[in-house]
Amino acid sequence: MRKAEHRFSGKTVESFFDASFSDIVQYSNAAKIILITDANVHDHHKEKFAGYVVITIPAGEENKTQQTTDFIIENLLEHEADKQTLIIGVGGGMVTDMAGYAASIYKRGTRLGLVPTSVLGMVDAAIGGKNGINIGLYKNMVGTVFQPEFILYDYSFLDTLPVKEWINGFAEIIKHACIKDKILFSMLERYTLHQIQADKTLIAELIEKNAAIKMEVVMADEYEKADRKLLNFGHTIGHAIENLHKLPHGHAVSIGMVAACNLSEKMNGLHFQEAQRVVKLLAQYHLPVDIETDHTQVFKVLKRDKKREDNSMHFVFLNSIGEAQARKIPLNYLQETLKSIL
Ligand SMILES: NC(=O)c1ccc[n+]([C@@H]2O[C@H](COP(=O)([O-])OP(=O)(O)OC[C@H]3O[C@@H](n4cnc5c(N)ncnc54)[C@H](O)[C@@H]3O)[C@@H](O)[C@H]2O)c1
Repeated sequence: MRKAEHRFSGKTVESFFDASFSDIVQYSNAAKIILITDANVHDHHKEKFAGYVVITIPAGEENKTQQTTDFIIENLLEHEADKQTLIIGVGGGMVTDMAGYAASIYKRGTRLGLVPTSVLGMVDAAIGGKNGINIGLYKNMVGTVFQPEFILYDYSFLDTLPVKEWINGFAEIIKHACIKDKILFSMLERYTLHQIQADKTLIAELIEKNAAIKMEVVMADEYEKADRKLLNFGHTIGHAIENLHKLPHGHAVSIGMVAACNLSEKMNGLHFQEAQRVVKLLAQYHLPVDIETDHTQVFKVLKRDKKREDNSMHFVFLNSIGEAQARKIPLNYLQETLKSIL
């Protein structure tokens, strides 16, 4: 086990890398623990949950709702959870978001720990304290920023993660490499997904490196005023396509990153010339790099994006692989160029 500590406003977050879920009591120092997981993770890892109070929610993004939050809260009440109870979310990003949200509002805040079980959860969703639920089609429209006390990484959960979820997670890993770490980018170029899945040391190294990237960006900017925006690389156009085509998030982000790279090559003042290298790496990890779409519709959805400010949009560009910058661009420029970048 390797431990890292990060100090946020009001809370220290401990990360336990390469740890064992069976040692959770030792790490958590709580008289009462309630686990929240989803039905898939529960079914795959029944033995790990034996002996705990577990609230099992239905799996899937469509269940990341107020209704599921109410279900969790009713169960917490039934189990007489109080403010000292430690709630631990054990699952992918959907579960850690839901557990974080429920813990932050139940009795105005209980204790929280997270055990991410998907690649995406480990390198992204469990880190940073943001949580949320969807309201109809609006993703993460309601939520809070609430840091967990700890994040425990037990890589044995990944043994049962479906390959499509690995691929989804690698979209965020490649994003991290693009915006912050050219050495990581070169490392990813040297492997296939299959080689990584088969090599526990490599998995541990990759997860830890990526968790550190996300943690550092978030630490520098807990409330998303500057650097944290860089994490949106590929996500502006990505979200629009995800909505329109009902694509898996990682697929949409992959296509969004290609569009953002193409736009970076076109932008005055930027000297980015490596869009094709990014395209090649995404394809190497089985991610889609283009899509047949209706550009008018994409622009319609883009206009509703949270990152819009009057007639411009905050957009993340690459200066080079490993270095990104956020800039505002006029909406009409985005509309004009959309056809040539997507
Ligand atoms: N809070 C944040 O900062 C943040 C950042 C990125 C994403 N997110 C959120 O994360 C969610 C996406 O995360 P995700 O891709 O992990 O989705 P998810 O939690 O829906 O997991 C994907 C699927 O994999 C299954 N699964 C998870 N771990 C498993 C395991 N070990 N074995 C077998 N099956 C397993 C789940 O049951 C689900 O069916 C979205 O809701 C997104 O909004 C949050």
